[in-house]
Amino acid sequence: MSLFEINKIIAAIIFTLVIIYIINKIGNIIINPKTPEEQAYKIEIPETEVSSNEIAESTEKSNIEPISLLLKDASLEKGEKLASKCSACHNFKKGEPHKIGPNLFGIIDRPIGTLDGYAYSSEMATFGDKWTYENLAKFLYKPKDYIKGTKMNFTGLKKVEDRANMVLWLREKSDNPPPLP
Ligand code: HEC
Repeated sequence: MSLFEINKIIAAIIFTLVIIYIINKIGNIIINPKTPEEQAYKIEIPETEVSSNEIAESTEKSNIEPISLLLKDASLEKGEKLASKCSACHNFKKGEPHKIGPNLFGIIDRPIGTLDGYAYSSEMATFGDKWTYENLAKFLYKPKDYIKGTKMNFTGLKKVEDRANMVLWLREKSDNPPPLP
C-alpha cells in the first residue's frame, strides 16, 4: 500500500467522522433534547384547601339526573308508595290542612313557598322561582342542598326513577294537571 493510498483511507475516515458529527448536530437542532429549566406547564396547587367532601358534593349536585324524559313512562303506583314517605308531614288533597309541612295539592308550577296559612322558613319563603317538574325533582334529591336552611327534614330520593314516579304522582294532585314536559 502506498503512502498515497493510506492518506486516502485516513481522509475517508476523517470525512466520515465529520459527516457523522454534522448529522448529529443537525439532529440535535431539530429535536432539541435539552431539558428546559422550567416545566412546560406548572401544576398549581390551590392555596385554599377544598375538602374532598366538598368536591364530592359539588360534582354530585351538578350530576343530578333530570327526570323530564322519564316522566311519560313513570309509575303512579310506585309514586303512591313513595308518597307514604311524605304523608307524615304533608297532606295532598284539596282543602286539607297543613301538617308539619304545607299541603301539596297543586304543587306543580306553584310559586315556591307561597301558600297562605303556612309558616315557611325564611329561606323557602324568599327562594323565588316555582316548582317546575325539574325544580321539584332536584329539591327532592336532597332538599337541604337545593334550599339551604329549609326546615323540611327529609334525606331525599336518590334514584332518578323514584323522583320521576314521585313527581308524576304529585302532578295528579291537581284540579288541572299541567302538561308533561
Ligand atoms: C319530616 C317532615 C317532612 C317530610 C317527611 C317531607 N316534608 Fe316536604 N316539607 C316539610 C316542611 C317542614 C316543609 C316547609 C319547608 C320550609 O319552610 O323550609 C316542606 C316543604 C315541601 C315542599 C315545598 C312546598 C311549597 O309550598 O313550596 C315540597 C314540594 C315538599 N315539601 C315535598 C315533599 C315530598 C314530595 C316529600 C316526600 C318525598 C316530603 N316533602 C317529605 C316537611 C316534610
